[in-house]
Order: sequence, then C-alpha cells, then structure tokens
Amino acid sequence: MEQRTLQVDLAERSYPIHIGPGLLKEVPDFLQAAGVERSRKLFVLTDENVAPLYLDTVCSTLAAAGYPVASCVVEAGEQAKRLAVYEQVMTAAIEAGLDRKSLLLALGGGVIGDLGGFVAATYMRGIAFVQVPTTLLAHDSSVGGKVAINHPLGKNLIGAFHQPLAVIYDTDTLHSLPKREVSAGFAEVIKHGLISDENFVTWLENHVDRLKALDSLFISEAIERGCAVKARVVAQDETEQGLRAILNLGHTFGHAFEALLDYAKLNHGEAISIGMGLAAELAERMELAPNGTARRIKTLLQSFDLPVSWPGSLSPRDVLDVMRRDKKSVAGKLVLVLPRAIGRVEIVKNIEESLVLQVMQDAREEQTT
Ligand SMILES: NC(=O)c1ccc[n+]([C@@H]2O[C@H](COP(=O)([O-])OP(=O)(O)OC[C@H]3O[C@@H](n4cnc5c(N)ncnc54)[C@H](O)[C@@H]3O)[C@@H](O)[C@H]2O)c1
Ligand SMILES: [Zn+2]
Repeated sequence: MEQRTLQVDLAERSYPIHIGPGLLKEVPDFLQAAGVERSRKLFVLTDENVAPLYLDTVCSTLAAAGYPVASCVVEAGEQAKRLAVYEQVMTAAIEAGLDRKSLLLALGGGVIGDLGGFVAATYMRGIAFVQVPTTLLAHDSSVGGKVAINHPLGKNLIGAFHQPLAVIYDTDTLHSLPKREVSAGFAEVIKHGLISDENFVTWLENHVDRLKALDSLFISEAIERGCAVKARVVAQDETEQGLRAILNLGHTFGHAFEALLDYAKLNHGEAISIGMGLAAELAERMELAPNGTARRIKTLLQSFDLPVSWPGSLSPRDVLDVMRRDKKSVAGKLVLVLPRAIGRVEIVKNIEESLVLQVMQDAREEQTT
C-alpha cells in the first residue's frame, strides 16, 4: 500500500497523519476530509529553502481547489525560531487578514512546525494548523503537540501544547533533503525503535539500503512506525508528567554535546546518536542491559551514517557539568533513560556521576587510540 494513515489518539484532539508519495497534490482533499470549508483562509508558512521547491505546488493546488491562500517565507534553520521572526510571521498573518477561522499550514521541517505551531497557538488565542513535514526528523515533531520558539537564554522556552488538525507527509519531498539531514532523521527513527519495539529495530537493520535510498514504501513504513511509537507514549502522557521522558533516550548526553559545541559541529540527530551509544555503554556497565546491546545499537546507527564515537575536542568533565545542570540531578546523582534491552528502556534514578564520567572517558580513550 503506497499511502497510509495513522491516527494519533488524544480524545477530542485526535488527528490523522497521512503518509505517502505525492501527497502535496492532495492537500486540498485532506483538508476537506478534516472539515476545512473552502471559505476559510489558509496561510502557508515555510522557509527559504523549502519555498522554491514546494511552495508553488502547495499554493496553486489549494487555490485551484477554491481556497483563499496567502503565504509567508522565513529564513531557514534554527534561527527562525526566535522572537523577531515570530513577530514577523504574526505581522504577515494580520496583514493577510487571517481571522479565527483561518488555518495555518506549516510546510517544512521541525523548525517550521514548531514556529508555525506556536504562531497558530497564539494568533487570536489560537487557530487551527496542519503540518506538512518535509524532513524525516519532523516525523518526531509532528506527534505530541509541543510547539515553541527559542529565547536567547535557552531552546524552546516559549511555547505551548497545540495539536495539529492533521499531518500530511509527502515522502517525495525527502528526496531533496541533504544527506546529513536524512541521517539525523534516522537517529530519531532508531530511537523510537529502541525505546519500545525490538521488531521495529530488526526491521530497520534488515532494510538499511532501501531506507537510505528513501524508497517510498519503506520510508513510509519507517515514518508510520516511528510516529506510532511516539503517539503511544504521548497518548499516555500528553502533558509530560512522567512516561514521556523515555523519549529522551540519548538526549541528556546529546543536549550537552550540542550546547558545548555551540549547536554548530554536530546536528541534533548526530548528537543523540553518540548519546544513545553512551547510554547503552553505561547500561551495560551497570549490568542493566546484556552485553552486546551497545554494539548492536552502535552498528545500526553507523549503518545510517551516524557518528557513535566521542566528539574529539570535548572534555568528559565539561559534558558532565552540563548534564548536571540540564537534568534534575540530586546530590551528585543523575537521572537518565537507559536501555534494558533492544526495544526496552527505563528511567534510571540515582546514577553515580563517577560511573557516567568513566564511560565517557573510556569512549574518549577509544577514540584517540
Ligand atoms: N515539537 C517537537 O516535539 C519536536 C521534536 C523534535 C524536534 N523538534 C524541533 O525540530 C527542529 C529540527 O527539525 P529539522 O531537523 O526538521 O530542521 P529544519 O526544519 O531546520 O530543517 C533542516 C534543514 O533542511 C531544510 N529543508 C527542509 N525540508 C527540506 C526539503 N524537503 N528539501 C531540502 N531542504 C529541506 C531546511 O530549510 C533546513 O535548512 C528543532 O528546532 C527541534 O527543536 C521539535
Ligand atoms: Zn530529539
């Protein structure tokens, strides 16, 4: 089956994720199916990389279907998630005459999803929005309803929970994505397997080539299964009280790498890839996971061209300092998500910092020898 639909189950905020090739041309049909009447004004938000590739197709298809449509193009990259750009989009929305019945379409990666979602959450106290993801990583941001922009003092500090009306994922758009961005997306796909589904992990291991080639049948299945894992977790913990923390596998290490490298040398997917490898090494060291777990995880990550070795220039002590600040550690003990086996993780409290440091020092040794 070329096209598939996954339902995210959140009572009256439930919504479908449509996945498959060629879906950009079907956006009007999906809007109709979601009950969006042709009288409602649509506002397409995108970035300057995505605009030349797909904006015309989306706008002209919508206009041909009878929808009044306006658009707004912002700069590309994480920089777009800042207050000045938020204001710029708000101004464009007001000037385009959007009202409370209007709908925002976020056409782009996770940055546009987060920014567009936050604009939608706050424009006239909230309007509907639809995500049209164009990166693999955005399979992650399209589930969960977290929308946010950054403050100079920290990432995602200004935000809301705002669920989309629907997600329309055209897998053809992934073909124009730079290879490094594709790999970064696979890091989150692999994470979704590792936290809850060994069959999914085995399936990824068995189809590396087809997946890397972005074969639409395989990539659609990967996106669906990745979204399904996240949707299951989010459905049980929509507002992040506890369980949702398992989605942070590899992220405490990863966020520290990103921060120490000024968000420049490693992208998010690469940083959490190294982090997932370290979490697995630590789990083995603590005898929480069987020997061989870390090897299998790292081999899979590497097969998707993701890094697993220590980021050379960093000092393990500096990383530990940032991890300590980042998480709610108590009196010298850290709380981390660690694998118990492939497809199963646990939130482990009271981890000795010295052990975490040792694992990082060993990883650095290994890298330099
Ligand atoms: N809300 C959530 O739950 C959640 C979850 C994960 C990540 N995020 C957020 O997502 C963001 C990262 O998302 P991302 O990796 O998609 O980044 P992104 O949106 O910046 O996209 C990456 C790059 O690819 C370009 N691009 C996008 N689609 C393209 C295409 N089809 N062809 C060619 N180029 C294309 C973009 O212009 C950008 O330069 C971060 O800000 C992160 O905080 C949010
Ligand atoms: Zn992540």
